[in-house]
Amino acid sequence: MDKTRIAQSGLNTFLNPDSNCARWFREANRYIPYCTSKANLYMLPHPLCLKGGSGCWATDLEGVSRLDCINSFTALIHGHAFPPVVRALTEQLSCGSNFSFPTAAELSLAKLMVERVSSIEQIRFGNSGTEAIMMAIKAARAYTGRHRIAKFEGAYHGYYDDIQVSSNSKPPHWGPQDAPASLASTGGIPEHRVQETLVLPWNDSDSTERLIIQHKDELAAVIVDPLANRMGFLPPKPGFLEHLREVTRTYGILIIFDEVISFRIAYGGAQARYGGDPDLTAFGKIMGGGFPIGATGGKKEIMAVFDPGTKGPRILSGGTFSANPISMTAGLAAMQALDQKAFLRLEEMGNHIRNRLNDLFKRSGQSGQVTGEGSLFRVMMVDRPIRSYRDTIVPGADERCYRLFVALLDVGIMIGSNGLGCLSTPMGEAELEKIEAGFERALDMLDKQ
Ligand SMILES: Cc1ncc(COP(=O)(O)O)c(C=O)c1O
Repeated sequence: MDKTRIAQSGLNTFLNPDSNCARWFREANRYIPYCTSKANLYMLPHPLCLKGGSGCWATDLEGVSRLDCINSFTALIHGHAFPPVVRALTEQLSCGSNFSFPTAAELSLAKLMVERVSSIEQIRFGNSGTEAIMMAIKAARAYTGRHRIAKFEGAYHGYYDDIQVSSNSKPPHWGPQDAPASLASTGGIPEHRVQETLVLPWNDSDSTERLIIQHKDELAAVIVDPLANRMGFLPPKPGFLEHLREVTRTYGILIIFDEVISFRIAYGGAQARYGGDPDLTAFGKIMGGGFPIGATGGKKEIMAVFDPGTKGPRILSGGTFSANPISMTAGLAAMQALDQKAFLRLEEMGNHIRNRLNDLFKRSGQSGQVTGEGSLFRVMMVDRPIRSYRDTIVPGADERCYRLFVALLDVGIMIGSNGLGCLSTPMGEAELEKIEAGFERALDMLDKQ
């Protein structure tokens, strides 16, 4: 991908060789591989470095503020420095940040989650979405006594070995559409681990059933992201999840929902909208109010594997910072501020912006579309209807998306370099207009590059 053709006519002063960002990069690169521990960030000549944020704005080291439409990879549904979170944390910080025994803050967030999400009766906290998925996989293995898991091609579930498989598959190695190959999505995973994971084609009920039946005696669980980001948030086809539930139930296989991102779309999560009756659900991102969090919730009988006193199978899990009162308190304040009304407003804004941006793409003559649900949107640089992960893979699309991302930075809008974006509660009509105007200018800049 050619990452050198980057827009620099307006706000992208961070690209100047004598900018604060350029100096930061030269120094950071000496101490940290490619300057940062953040994922998915590679920009030439160097990335942007931020010094702070407030509400829906984030400011770089040059003092340039941009409208933040990526919000810490969708985690900050209330934007930066949300006052209820800041107030609650100021109080909590003065009472200590973590202990070797539980605190009441853990119970408060657990109760809120169990009351909100109908499929979960108990919940257990960790520090990231990756950890939540890892806990769910181990729980499923312990509970069923089986070792393999299945996932859908193109779905990303964090960076645990078993699930960094076929989340970014490309031709020619990706195998047949109705029996996708198990491919490592990164270096560092032993091939036998990769082959342990069965890969299924999303929204293809017949093939999914056939593959599950072929491996039924080994499968502990099927992991489902009901709204997978990398597939352009392609929702389940009517009947797909019900069929999957029926097949898995027949063979004693668990369903794990990954709601690390999709919990953003509705008060009770994506499962409240699409059903699916999962046995376990992994959460993260918005549930932490901007602080590290992950959680695995589910049916009591299965969650018993986390109980050290249980008579049945059990697993050892939990780390030094699991359920720390800072993340619990921030999460509680953020979630309490997200009532049904807040979700409705975010959804209306999301529908509006997706429609407007799609109109802009049509008018601009650029290949692309904007997909998503609720407050989530995703720019996909393809024209054809997206019915599967494979429809999103088009030569040159990643490069054009990257160029749009940099052009948007130049006009004051931050989205993810892969086209991922989201809205936040501090946004209103004025911000939606800015997003629209920014996209109009950025699409125009692409034409001229
Ligand atoms: C759907 C999904 N699952 C899991 C994860 C992993 O979460 P984390 O980055 O908190 O480890 C992500 C991260 O983006 C995600 O999008």
